[in-house]
Amino acid sequence: MTFRTLDQAQLAAKRALVRVDFNVPVKEGEVADDARLRCALPTINALRRAGAKTTLISHFGRPKGKSIASMSLRPVAAPLAKLLGAPVAFAEDCVGPTAKAAVDAMKPGEVLLLENLRFHPGEEANDPNFARALAANGDLYIDDAFSAAHRAHASTVGVARLLPAFAGEDLRRELQALRAALDHPAHPVLGIVGGSKVSTKLDMLLNLILKLDRLAIGGGMANTFLFSQGWPVGASICEKDLADAARDIMAFAEKHNCELLHWTSPSFLCR
Ligand code: 3PG
Repeated sequence: MTFRTLDQAQLAAKRALVRVDFNVPVKEGEVADDARLRCALPTINALRRAGAKTTLISHFGRPKGKSIASMSLRPVAAPLAKLLGAPVAFAEDCVGPTAKAAVDAMKPGEVLLLENLRFHPGEEANDPNFARALAANGDLYIDDAFSAAHRAHASTVGVARLLPAFAGEDLRRELQALRAALDHPAHPVLGIVGGSKVSTKLDMLLNLILKLDRLAIGGGMANTFLFSQGWPVGASICEKDLADAARDIMAFAEKHNCELLHWTSPSFLCR
């Protein structure tokens, strides 16, 4: 492995700053799907067992650098505490005196969740000052947010350069699975990609095409490909301005003998 894992970290009594992805669906103030909370449990429990002071940081939604009440991470604390069977404290800011006071008050084995990183413009800008403010509350940094790892933000890239950095259990598991599937796969290999946007995944799609025998594109992204082939998509999610890019990806796949599944086959659509 080319990344450090938790078993290589000295954790006892250390302030562990853990980047999780708690960007979960919330309806009427309640977490509607706790899958991402469950993903973080192995890391949080390992830190608690080792006697670390665990500070969780995450984004939630896209508040664009402003504090927006409906995008607070507060509703996440109670369901997380229930899953852990232990209290989860909450602090109303992820940096500054509020965060510092909450971190300083923690005892070994305790867990604290800080408010939405994206309430500060420095997060998405990967502002070095904001990264330093985050790093001030940690002795070490653990990234356990695989689903946010494609973002070069202060909490994913900036802090990792300032503190000793480790992969959490979920990130390690995801990276090992990717490695097994992509580095030395047993062919034929099929990839399945979902999500709403082609625009954020262009490089990844091209990279996968070079490694896979078949690639199925689902979710909202599939509509962009359907649209690029002249299919009506109605009011469904679709990046119409990406039609040319979708056609280029299809041509690239054909050139590299990767079969793209789904939209090129009208019979599939009618099933
Ligand atoms: C997600 O839900 O896809 C991740 O949390 C990333 O969120 P983002 O697209 O707002 O960066």
